[in-house]
Amino acid sequence: MIYLDNSASTFIKPKEVISATCEGLTKYSANPGRSGHMLSTIAAVKVENVREKICNFFNAESAIFTENCTDALNLAIQGIVKENMHVICTTNDHNASVRPLFELQRKLGIEISVSSPRDRGFLSIDDILPHVKQHTKIICLNHMSNVDGEIADVEKIGQFCKEKNIIFIVDAAQSAGHIKIDMKKFNIDFLALAPHKGLYAPQGVGVLACTNKVSLQPIRFGGTGTESENLYQPLGTIETYESGTLPTPNILGLGAGIDFVKKNFTEINDKIDDLSTYLNYELSNINGVTVYTHPNNAFGVIGFNVADYGSTDVSQLLSDKYDICTRGGLHCAGLKHKFLNTTKQGIVRASLSYFNTFNDCQKLVKAIKHIAKYGY
Ligand code: ALA
Repeated sequence: MIYLDNSASTFIKPKEVISATCEGLTKYSANPGRSGHMLSTIAAVKVENVREKICNFFNAESAIFTENCTDALNLAIQGIVKENMHVICTTNDHNASVRPLFELQRKLGIEISVSSPRDRGFLSIDDILPHVKQHTKIICLNHMSNVDGEIADVEKIGQFCKEKNIIFIVDAAQSAGHIKIDMKKFNIDFLALAPHKGLYAPQGVGVLACTNKVSLQPIRFGGTGTESENLYQPLGTIETYESGTLPTPNILGLGAGIDFVKKNFTEINDKIDDLSTYLNYELSNINGVTVYTHPNNAFGVIGFNVADYGSTDVSQLLSDKYDICTRGGLHCAGLKHKFLNTTKQGIVRASLSYFNTFNDCQKLVKAIKHIAKYGY
């Protein structure tokens, strides 16, 4: 099997991640921070070490463990957005942020403006500026599109947010591990992570990294291991946002994933760059194939279509006949497909990780050549 669906979840995990996760299961599966006994304390220390690794890697002040990236975005959005706020999002955004925002539009009547890029391949501050209003309080956007790998210039947009006192929320589900993110340098207040993608962690844990002192309202309530006599959620600590038992094995796997990416960052991303460039070039040269990913976006996300064939049909055929895993359809990113005019057809997405080979990409190109020539 050739796995080219790494933007959905990286399939092959580094051996270091597997052994750290297994160690979490076999040695540290006590409840971190809930009981006073030795094993619970050791598990809590291990979890805190990973929190520190996350803060160092992204230059954050703190990191909240969540269930996944969607949960992290919900916390950032629902925890901050209030009535009468104006929020800017973009057509590159995933439903993980779009739906919480539109839910708040329905419930609280917040105002939302949707920005789209002028040049394909890049979302710049110039695409944002026409949407800014006197009462714009939040800019919430996707750092890298999960459909075609399009990047937002978070450094310039963050600078603007700082000047105008606008809260900046970034969905780094696809970019973390592929692009260096310095939250303080880029003035990012809240960064949502999907560790099971480019950080090669197990599924089952997300992160909301923060630099902001803005008071974030909790959106889930329950046990924090503190002030148990209090019937209301204790506020002002990291536990405020982490009710319920944390997934220690997954968090330890995440720690090992960050170590792996940190140690091999250049090697990982040079390889993904080479393979993306190859795939983009070869697919673009097949008669009848449309490639949506800009050639400069070599971050491992290649969106394409074959003639007017349905993307889910092509993706299914790649799976059934060629044993190649891709993702067709709309990728939970309806605004993006509307912008690209692909809502009906969807897009076939091939997405790469460090563990893909040149041979994997050659096989995809060969299969697509065959489908483009002979149909399906
Ligand atoms: N958001 C993930 C994807 O793009 C699941 O496939």
